[in-house]
Amino acid sequence: MIKKISHIAIVVPRLEEATAFWAAALGLDVSHQEHVPDQGVDVAFIPVGESDIELLEPIDPASGVARYLEKRGPGMHHICFEVDDMAATLARLKAANVPLINEEPTISADGKKIAFVHPKGTNGVLVELYELPVTAESAEATEGLRHRLRDGRDVYTAGAKAFLSGIRHGREADAPPQNG
Ligand code: CO
Repeated sequence: MIKKISHIAIVVPRLEEATAFWAAALGLDVSHQEHVPDQGVDVAFIPVGESDIELLEPIDPASGVARYLEKRGPGMHHICFEVDDMAATLARLKAANVPLINEEPTISADGKKIAFVHPKGTNGVLVELYELPVTAESAEATEGLRHRLRDGRDVYTAGAKAFLSGIRHGREADAPPQNG
């Protein structure tokens, strides 16, 4: 259900000093930096295996990250897991009475479904979850399978048909918001 740790986000007052530390002390280099004004941060990405350390520097004093830094000082902000099925993951957390910041996932600019779990349910750690969007490639494979099912030339079971039908309905329900 959980595929990997995508990233661990750390809030720092100045990216330049922080990235210098990670490079000099640990030999870990920045792959790229991004300016993300709608979240009020500059981000430096440091790949480690198949995960990233993400250093966040607040650039907007009103942002959540800026308030975090002011209140607690630099430190770990959140951990992010990639999941294969966001709906199932959220349903499981709700069933276990884990408080969620997002009861329904938001859709990022690049089509990811994203939801945060409240730290009071996770031993004090803000947890981010995301599910990658259906790629053109995998959508095509699904479509091809659907055609074979419709033509009756398939060897697939009724269970597979129901599964595919679920995928299609799920996708319709998850159209991105109008404002992007
Ligand atoms: Co994150």
